[in-house]
Amino acid sequence: MDIQYVCPKCHSPLVIQNNLKYLCSKNSNNSKCNAEYEILNGIPRFTEISNYAKNFGYQWNKFDDTQIDNRKTRKLELSKDRLFYQGDWDPVDLRNINILEVGSGAGRFSEVILSNTSANLYSIDYSNAVEANSKNNLSGNQDRFFLSQASVYEMPFPNNSFDKVFCFGVLQHTPSFDESIKALISKAKIDGEIVVDFYRIKGWWTKIHAKYLLRPFTKNIPEKRLLNFIENNIDWLISVSDILNKIGLHFLTRFLPIVDIKTTFPKDLSTKERREWAILDTFDMFSPEHDHPQSFSSVESMFKKHNCEITFSGIVNIPDGFKSNVVRAIKK
Ligand SMILES: C[S@@+](CC[C@H](N)C(=O)[O-])C[C@H]1O[C@@H](n2cnc3c(N)ncnc32)[C@H](O)[C@@H]1O
Repeated sequence: MDIQYVCPKCHSPLVIQNNLKYLCSKNSNNSKCNAEYEILNGIPRFTEISNYAKNFGYQWNKFDDTQIDNRKTRKLELSKDRLFYQGDWDPVDLRNINILEVGSGAGRFSEVILSNTSANLYSIDYSNAVEANSKNNLSGNQDRFFLSQASVYEMPFPNNSFDKVFCFGVLQHTPSFDESIKALISKAKIDGEIVVDFYRIKGWWTKIHAKYLLRPFTKNIPEKRLLNFIENNIDWLISVSDILNKIGLHFLTRFLPIVDIKTTFPKDLSTKERREWAILDTFDMFSPEHDHPQSFSSVESMFKKHNCEITFSGIVNIPDGFKSNVVRAIKK
């Protein structure tokens, strides 16, 4: 491991004890940190196990391989295309460098980095989705894949460490977008690159949408109940959504409490997979504690405020029709 874990609270080096926990080494005359971090199921935990992101832990452990490109039963290229198009990277650009991934979920992008590059990958997630990522990606990669449970606000790495930092599908789900951007930048080296994607606020109408109208209620429903409810209703919702798309009324699907199937799914999913993706992504819409979309200009301002140069800000078109809102920046 090239980058050693440090205490997320006081930034002192950590010492591993019997492969069971990390202990903070800070023990000066004036102060002692005393922090201990458990290693559970082989994964260091730098945060409380349960927190505001527990819905994601539930979701990614239920649907642990749904969105992974390389499954035994089929191959997709969506996560691979998203990673390389959004970063504007070629796998050779990522050879032997240190990459930080924040909010890795079940590890769809971890898998792409590990299968297509020789980079060292340090991935964190705030929820116990790290269990799903570990199941999908740890085996065979222990020498260059370092996975831990941690928050973007208290990361177990020294500042100015990483060549590249990416954070996909996460920032809108954190309590402070600006503080999260600041934290990502703090871990990049000078001249290191940070790439993020996010839900976009397009105008006053963005929040006139079934998701934003219903979330204040649905986010408080216990995960199991919400998932059951979605599973019991998904078939008619898919049918109505398909009819609206077929007759050219896609814009009306925003009033249906189901994910936008037309613009977010790969085209070649089987009917069974399409149903599974619809359940997962609809749960992902309605369960998070936080959902704070942003404009390009506000995200650009956040990067500039924290001393970065913007190299790209705009929509990235991914093959298969998927579109992402992306900002790339270099730390100065
Ligand atoms: C919609 S999921 C996206 C996961 C993955 N990047 C993907 O695209 O499949 C958002 C993830 O962000 C994580 N997350 C939310 N708040 C976080 C925080 N403060 N620090 C780190 N991860 C966080 C959640 O636990 C969840 O796994």
